[in-house]
Amino acid sequence: MTDPKNPTGTAHHVDATGMRKGLTNYGDAGFSLFLRKAFIKGAGYTDAALDRPVIGVIDTGSGYNPCHGNMPQLLEAVNRGVMLAGGLPVKFPTISIGESFAQPTSMYLRNLMSMDTEEMIRAQPMDAVVLIGGCDKTVPAQLMGAASAGIPAIQLITGSMLTGSHRGETVGACTDCRRFWGKFRADEIDEDEITEVNNQLVASVGTCSVMGTASTMACIAEALGMTVTGGASPPAVTADRMRVAERTGAQAVELAKKRLGIDQILTAKAFENAMRVLLAIGGSTNGIVHLTAIAGRMGFEVDLDALDRMGRETPVLVDLKPSGQHYMEHFHAAGGMTTLLRELKPLLHLDALTVTGRTLGEEIDNAPPSFQQDVVRPRSNPIYPQGGIAVLHGNLAPGGAIIKQSAAKPELMEHEGRAVVFDNLADMAARIDADDLDVHAEDVLVLKNIGPKGAPGMPEAGYLPIPRKLARAGVKDMVRISDGRMSGTAFGTIVLHVMPESAMGGPLAHVQTGDRIRLSVSKREISLLVSDEELARRQQAHPVVVPTADRGYRKLFLQTVTQADKGVDFDFLAASKTVGRVPKA
Ligand code: FES
Repeated sequence: MTDPKNPTGTAHHVDATGMRKGLTNYGDAGFSLFLRKAFIKGAGYTDAALDRPVIGVIDTGSGYNPCHGNMPQLLEAVNRGVMLAGGLPVKFPTISIGESFAQPTSMYLRNLMSMDTEEMIRAQPMDAVVLIGGCDKTVPAQLMGAASAGIPAIQLITGSMLTGSHRGETVGACTDCRRFWGKFRADEIDEDEITEVNNQLVASVGTCSVMGTASTMACIAEALGMTVTGGASPPAVTADRMRVAERTGAQAVELAKKRLGIDQILTAKAFENAMRVLLAIGGSTNGIVHLTAIAGRMGFEVDLDALDRMGRETPVLVDLKPSGQHYMEHFHAAGGMTTLLRELKPLLHLDALTVTGRTLGEEIDNAPPSFQQDVVRPRSNPIYPQGGIAVLHGNLAPGGAIIKQSAAKPELMEHEGRAVVFDNLADMAARIDADDLDVHAEDVLVLKNIGPKGAPGMPEAGYLPIPRKLARAGVKDMVRISDGRMSGTAFGTIVLHVMPESAMGGPLAHVQTGDRIRLSVSKREISLLVSDEELARRQQAHPVVVPTADRGYRKLFLQTVTQADKGVDFDFLAASKTVGRVPKA
């Protein structure tokens, strides 16, 4: 594309486009462009191709990330869409994070991926960028990075995996992974059966097939207006997913031509729409952390108490595991996000702009008509009357904590019990299955040191296993409390994200086995029934040493990572100034 302000391409300025953008500093702009073109022509490009709008396409394929296993087909479809619309696609890699392959936890690497995404978008010439992600941390990392980079951007989701079948029962990762593992631990199924079901839980490439973190972030990306309409739900291996990819490529060219910046999409209204959707889908608790981090990149702080109030008037409508029954492929067959957004219409900001250049309301109105289906419920007949996530406060969590109430056991949501404390992951692993562990079904399991700095990286270990001897006796759920996260595919009466975390000296650090703890979800309370004086005495007797590291990424991580209420982002990556709070109280 010829830049009217720079027709010869010999000057480098902020309005430059295509290959003229962001020239490498050789001290001579004309030479920089000359050299750049010479090198890219080495790949066989013509001047006509290089004059088109340049669309960067982020390839996050990796042998360690089967959730992105359809990347070659997606790239081909995106390229087709870009070229049909008159652009030039240029593929480039960033790191990729596969949930179950990353040690100590994928969350430890999310911010690294966001930095890679941001800096490579910024460093290389492109007029718009297609972000291709799917597995849990990849979509948040890409949206965080793109939000900070600031150029026009569009998200393409890799799509969910297909469901499998085990002895006639539909199964899918990863709610059923946990369910079958629980049965195995309780001796309800044997070694042969657990091996057999292992072949069925992940029936194809793609992301987890329930409303886990990946599906949650896919829905959030669409609710934010960052995908084409219908971009959240098509499974990875379907023709629908490839058509979404082609449309995404074409739309990226339109974004580039209109210079529709990401700051026009990621507004306060968009974040409020996304929060509404997070609550209505019974979405992963990780969704709050990621949404907080993305909002932080745009200068918005998340008001957890306002989110809780929003939750009280937002029912869970999507009947997907772990809160409900179905899987993502069924959500897609039911019309996907359009069906949900239509049901939520009175609660949404319909004038929020999307990457299509139209508003969310216009997209809903332009979508095919609704039809009879049983996956997205009407507001008059919800799965759960309130939003999936409630925010708790109390002396155990002065900075707040959360619980996914829609996936909790109703009888345990008002509960007082004796604490059984594990100091860290190693302590839990060593003792939880011991026959002589002093634990009863009505006790409250407490795990310390799995917060952002504690483990580090806030691993998804908040879903403490039921102690083996209780599991064998038929116990399926207990109140469990930690400063960590849990997988969006998990379920149970589980209090998470306790702030401040124990590794920072929060009250959680000073809970002892035998203390009484009270949980009241109706009162939004999480209390340690120990006096302030006794807590202060324990703090003095056992001062906490905050973890540090000598070098490398771990040092950067431990020095700069924030708590869950700031999205577990690095403090220096958030926007330099706060422009508002979301949702509005
Ligand atoms: Fe990648 Fe679940 S492991 S989405």
